[in-house]
Amino acid sequence: MDLLLSGGCVYLDGGFVQRDVAISKGRIISVSPSVSPDGFSVIELHHCLLVPGFVDVHVHLREPGFSYKETIASGTDAAARGGYTDICAMPNLKPVPDCMEALQIQRHIIDRDARIHVHPYGAITRGQAGTELADMAAIAPYVVGFSDDGRGVQSEEQMRRAMEHAAALRLPIVAHCEDNALLTPGWCVHEGDWARRHGLPGSSSQSEWKQLERDLRLVAETGCRYHACHISTKESVALIRNAKAAGLPVSCETAPHYLLLCEDNLQDSGSFKMNPPLRSKEDRDALRKGLLDGTIDCIATDHAPHSAAEKAGGLRESLNGIVGLETAFQVLYTYLVKTGLVPLAILLDRLCCRPRQLFGLPGGKVETGEPASLTVLNLDDPHTVDATAFASMGRATPFDGWQVSASVAATFCDGRLVYAAGKENNAL
Ligand code: DOR
Repeated sequence: MDLLLSGGCVYLDGGFVQRDVAISKGRIISVSPSVSPDGFSVIELHHCLLVPGFVDVHVHLREPGFSYKETIASGTDAAARGGYTDICAMPNLKPVPDCMEALQIQRHIIDRDARIHVHPYGAITRGQAGTELADMAAIAPYVVGFSDDGRGVQSEEQMRRAMEHAAALRLPIVAHCEDNALLTPGWCVHEGDWARRHGLPGSSSQSEWKQLERDLRLVAETGCRYHACHISTKESVALIRNAKAAGLPVSCETAPHYLLLCEDNLQDSGSFKMNPPLRSKEDRDALRKGLLDGTIDCIATDHAPHSAAEKAGGLRESLNGIVGLETAFQVLYTYLVKTGLVPLAILLDRLCCRPRQLFGLPGGKVETGEPASLTVLNLDDPHTVDATAFASMGRATPFDGWQVSASVAATFCDGRLVYAAGKENNAL
């Protein structure tokens, strides 16, 4: 049955205006002030915002290999609840998708279980071990880019060769920048004031930005499209800004926790342990500036679920990684947009539009002919974040218990309703 989303507000010409949106066969067939409901199944949106589906270019779905942490079913359910219609899945899996045989295992589960679109990354190096290149040419037609996320590629020569291959295959290198030689063994927080005061080993900002600096040099040499993962330092923001000014084909993402938190917010809990770590207030503020001036292209969650036991060891012993799919919009809207720090249009661009352009994913506009991958937002739904209610199997988030003022009311993926808020939410 064709669908009519009635009475929602869509973003047009710099403002939100009320429009009816008709959907048939997974595509938008009409966007107009009023569409006759005849022949449609009507969903009343009650003035909620209707925006292009969110995209998260940095998600760990853990399957195959680690389905005790998350599965493709649970992770994509969490994504749909968070308003995402497209996510890019990181390759730190077992087997690592570094050849066609391994990638097929992941693709089979995606085809079987995913509730929304999942776009896998292939690995840069075999087994993400950093020594030999993955079978990049074979997997290229089926991946959105190459990443060894979770680890930096330590060898400059390997990274140069990877970039040459990726450039020839017209796909981006999506880099986790971390120079192991610049890390203190056993680090668990940022190497800064907080670490010194608490006597904990820290991860230096340099470990991130020095490798980013190296990579940008290699981008200039090879012409490879390059995307920096989860940047967290002020130096990284400056490096990307300068690289863009010099015309290099680079982009980057940061995550909600780096925009909203810093080392001053640390608690001795696994929910505050991730890689890179929460850094200084100056870093956080530089990331906010980078978001505003377009240096930062995407907000990605780095959704990285682990089991309760793996996150029970406080800052020192817990594994790195927090979940983010089900809280990103709520916390960003409440603490960056409502507070006047970031315009809503910029937040939506970095969640819906820019990542689609960068990774060649369809959609990104509420317009006739576009895929009906759409998210409905209720900007007036005060509630408290409750991690126990997540669809994700991961529960560790520093935002648990936060008061937020907005929610995702519904998510449509190619015209299919993949999430609708329950009774606690009156939006639909
Ligand atoms: O905190 C993190 N967790 N950072 C990463 O880079 C990897 C991720 C994971 O896979 O758990």
